[in-house]
Amino acid sequence: MRAGAIAASVRLAPGAWYDSTVLEVIGRKQRGIELGAEEISRAIAGFNSGVIPDYQMAAFLMAAYFQGLSDDETCALTVALLESGGRWKLPASFMPALDKHSTGGVGDKTTLLLVPMLAAVGMKVPKMAGRGLGHTGGTIDKLESIPGMRTAMTRDEAMAQLERVGCFIISQSEELVPAEKKLYALRDATGTTAQEGLIISSILSKKIACGASHVIIDVKHGSGGFFPHEAQAYDFAERIVQIGGRFKPSFAAAVTAMEHPLGKAVGNALEVAEVIQILDERDASSDVSQLCIGLGGALLVLAGKAASHAYGEDMIAETLLDGSAQAKFREMIAAQGGDLDMFAAELDTIEAKAMQVQVTSPMPGYITGIDALTIAEFCRSEGAGRLSKEDKINRWTGIVLRAAVGDAVAEGGLLAEAYIRHGSDCGAARDDVLKAFSIGDKPERKPLISAVITAETAN
Ligand code: URA
Repeated sequence: MRAGAIAASVRLAPGAWYDSTVLEVIGRKQRGIELGAEEISRAIAGFNSGVIPDYQMAAFLMAAYFQGLSDDETCALTVALLESGGRWKLPASFMPALDKHSTGGVGDKTTLLLVPMLAAVGMKVPKMAGRGLGHTGGTIDKLESIPGMRTAMTRDEAMAQLERVGCFIISQSEELVPAEKKLYALRDATGTTAQEGLIISSILSKKIACGASHVIIDVKHGSGGFFPHEAQAYDFAERIVQIGGRFKPSFAAAVTAMEHPLGKAVGNALEVAEVIQILDERDASSDVSQLCIGLGGALLVLAGKAASHAYGEDMIAETLLDGSAQAKFREMIAAQGGDLDMFAAELDTIEAKAMQVQVTSPMPGYITGIDALTIAEFCRSEGAGRLSKEDKINRWTGIVLRAAVGDAVAEGGLLAEAYIRHGSDCGAARDDVLKAFSIGDKPERKPLISAVITAETAN
């Protein structure tokens, strides 16, 4: 069927287009035929209003997963997701407004640190984040492990917080990209997360909706990301910057490593605790801090606020060292209703909510690898992530790594502490976590960020 015929069917009674045509759209995508913007727009509008049920949209997603989406289709899907809700236009006095987004990783708590760092530099940071997707963790789930934390805001509330605090972190809502919220949850539950066009439209729609003027995308490669190989991450980074170029914000993308978990903690409350510790200790040397400093520096250059990457990095690092990022983090959490004292009190009694299992090394040597996907799947199986749409997250389960890649360990030396559900099998947990570790000769250190791609450098 041609796009014109689809347009003709618009004149049918309400609902009739969907009854007959959504199946044709699914069929066309199954056969690898490029869809028109009108078809995509109607499919998303129908899904958002509930006329197209989850099972039909799941079939569409699976067809897109296998057949891919062209740049035009990806752009049309971005627009359709955006049009399901409003779009916040920020006042000129808030510009440049900065934002970051990650394609997803394990132990990736970058947002929780970088957002307050950028605000401490004096930037406005309107940030929309997501929940866990596939094996990867989600900022919103992590934030919700803080008692009282609200991640839904009206436009007025968000603008007032931007004015007063300089930053917010919210999730998709009825007001902003509601169809993206539904599609995201459906992708998570149907194994259709790792598809380029779906990832690009999901990220771009969220970034454009919140009104930032300059955005950096952290494109992760390795077992814990959606791109196993670095070359795939490069291609994706170029593609998202190019497609992003059709819209208003300026986009850049950094290609970063996700072979092993970022930082020490994986799991919702455990990751928040790690961020608080980094901020309290003003620790600029951790890999989490270093990644934030690198991404933040690149973002300040993109926004014209730093003359060089090195200068931008210094500006960001200074916020950690002088305590202003810590103060901004606390201000942002409090503004969104979060109670960090109660969080700390709950963390002190974590043993009442999860059992701790120590994982030790069976041999001496150097840690040559900690497989991020194995760690992520273990944490998910213990409730730190979802296996179905209805699953409730367990805030307390996860892992704290006590040895990092490159560290020397003795036989019997502590590798990790796993926090598992009461009633889970401790021996099996120990074996599962151990499978993630490789031990051998001293490995070479690889850089966390291998490239930053901008509209000028993208092919
Ligand atoms: N982050 C998103 O917001 N969407 C994706 O599809 C992947 C990562």
